Amino acid sequence: MAKKRILSGMRPTGRLHLGNLLGALANWKRLQDDCDCFFFVADWHALASDYANTDNLKDYIHEIIIDWLSVGLSPDKSTLFIQSHLKEHAELFVLLSTITPLSWLERNPTYKEQKEQVANKDLSTYGFLGYPVLQAADIIMYKANAVPVGVDQLPHVELTREIARRFNHFYGKVFPIPDPILTEVPKLLGIDGRKMSKSYNNTIFISEKPEDISSKVSRMVTDPQRARRNDPGNPDVCNVFSFHKLFSDKGIIQRADRECRIAGIGCVECKKILADNLIKFLAPIREKRDYYEKHPEVVSKIIQEGTAKAAAVARQTMEEARSAMKI
Ligand code: TRP
Repeated sequence: MAKKRILSGMRPTGRLHLGNLLGALANWKRLQDDCDCFFFVADWHALASDYANTDNLKDYIHEIIIDWLSVGLSPDKSTLFIQSHLKEHAELFVLLSTITPLSWLERNPTYKEQKEQVANKDLSTYGFLGYPVLQAADIIMYKANAVPVGVDQLPHVELTREIARRFNHFYGKVFPIPDPILTEVPKLLGIDGRKMSKSYNNTIFISEKPEDISSKVSRMVTDPQRARRNDPGNPDVCNVFSFHKLFSDKGIIQRADRECRIAGIGCVECKKILADNLIKFLAPIREKRDYYEKHPEVVSKIIQEGTAKAAAVARQTMEEARSAMKI
């Protein structure tokens, strides 16, 4: 049986953090063992909201690819590429734009939310409204069967399905209807106890240096009731303990759980152990990252080869799409 075709993308908006690692990246890594995976950097999508200042875009693209490679996305298993290298995405976007009713885009919840919430940018642009149409083009270009995404992206996958159905209805069945893949991921909070997010400046990066890991962990918010060393704490409400559950071994988890409650272990020591474990956990990733940082030519080659593989599929799909539309 043919392997399932998977496609997903990320916008290049800066270095990836532990939340991205345990969420999207862990999923992608698992999928690449059994599926035919296409993963790409959605740089045109980054422009949709960050069009005014593009100074960092090239660096972010390079960084995100190095992050992917260092956590174990493998060019031998997956096809890795950059959206803007494949002009076919723009062409399919134009074709799909012609059949996408404006009302579908205007009622898209992410569009409405972001326009209201993002105060510092003017998102009343044509490109931002059409964001999901470009995303639909990305997905159906590769005739993906499934798209691993976070819940926030579900409306976009739903729109993709509707657009693909509409195309097939007008011009004949060209595109499979893709399913979203939603995987339960461990919830990781930032060092201040809010959702880990770059915009809150509370992240620990995958590429964080050991000394910065220690300093960030030492600043982590703990059980607020435990103000003094001798106060007993409650690990169930402590973010440091949630991290231990993800990054420490069983012995440490049990010890922290037991001793925190009787003020046996102090927060300083508990954090020190966590920092050491995180440093150990990230060490092999760091090592790989160092290698790719020193060998940008290897990274370029990986992307060139990925682009060539993606282009073969994209060209074929575009021939079918044009021919179905009789153009
Ligand atoms: N919109 C996605 C995000 O912000 C990125 C993306 C672009 C994407 N094209 C895609 C994800 C296609 C999945 C499939 O996370």
